[in-house]
Amino acid sequence: MTKTIRAHTNIALIKYWGKADSQLRLPLMSSLSMTLDKFYTDTQITNSSTTNEFYLNGSKQTGNSAQRVFTYIKKLQAKFGVSGNLIVKSTNHVPTAAGLASSSSAFAALAGAFCEHYHIKVSQTELSRLARLGSGSASRSIFGGFAIWQKGTTDESSYAYALTEKPKMDLQLLAIELNQLPKDLPSTAGMQQAQTSPFFKPWLARNEAELNTMINAIKANDFSSLGQQAELNAMEMHAINLSANPGFTYFEPNTLRAIKLVQQLRNSGIECYCTIDAGPNVKVLCQLRNVKEITSRFMSEFQNVKIIHASFGTGISCLN
Ligand code: DP6
Repeated sequence: MTKTIRAHTNIALIKYWGKADSQLRLPLMSSLSMTLDKFYTDTQITNSSTTNEFYLNGSKQTGNSAQRVFTYIKKLQAKFGVSGNLIVKSTNHVPTAAGLASSSSAFAALAGAFCEHYHIKVSQTELSRLARLGSGSASRSIFGGFAIWQKGTTDESSYAYALTEKPKMDLQLLAIELNQLPKDLPSTAGMQQAQTSPFFKPWLARNEAELNTMINAIKANDFSSLGQQAELNAMEMHAINLSANPGFTYFEPNTLRAIKLVQQLRNSGIECYCTIDAGPNVKVLCQLRNVKEITSRFMSEFQNVKIIHASFGTGISCLN
């Protein structure tokens, strides 16, 4: 029976935004993420008697997405000395409303399904390294709770691990859908262009200290410190994009309105913080007691906005 592998997406609280080696996807900085329960990818691999085929949510893919999947599969086949054409079937449970990149769950599930298909036994650390070769952020989706991707300097030393798979912290994420359009600049290109900013190197120099602040916040179960650090790190990343040469931004007018609303809510005593990835949508970090109030404030500020409430997800698993 074909096994189905499930991996959840993650949201970076300390961002990965720059590569030291683009072939191996070695990052310039270490990153830390929260794995999310609501968003995941299920993937199955079977043999194909004809050509390689990739199905996403039931429809056969051609073009870039199929090419990226099979470039990755071929890399893994060469690495493990295995061969053969494959049928890859993935279902993305990442609603467009989430505005969350699915490459983290997609490549984590793909790495897991590949090992399952060829009966390759790997540790979680090795699986994280394999997922990293497909998409950097996927290295963290092997684990639940909070995961850290230590940047390392080689293929062997660059992998993620769980800081804690069952966090005690009351940490909720509200994914606010402000814009459903695909992003203009994919992360891979955006993070390369960002390095032309004069603020990129100073930001990089802060990475270890910011990571430690975040680790300490998690260990101390300190939501305020976690939120402050997450928001700061995200704003630094977006300030670097704006100041790159040429400058660019993922923000849309509604992104700024949402950031201001988060600031207003905070000033009025409803504690919340935001983080934003390579797209216009805003994710609000808050505690359970404020979910209702924050949701209703966003609903009245933005017409027809879709909001998805998520919390901690689990690590990669085999469903059958
Ligand atoms: C802003 O993992 O999608 O979400 O390695 O080029 O596939 P590639 O990039 P990707 O970048 C994620 C960027 C980010 C921050 C993060 O998740 O750490």
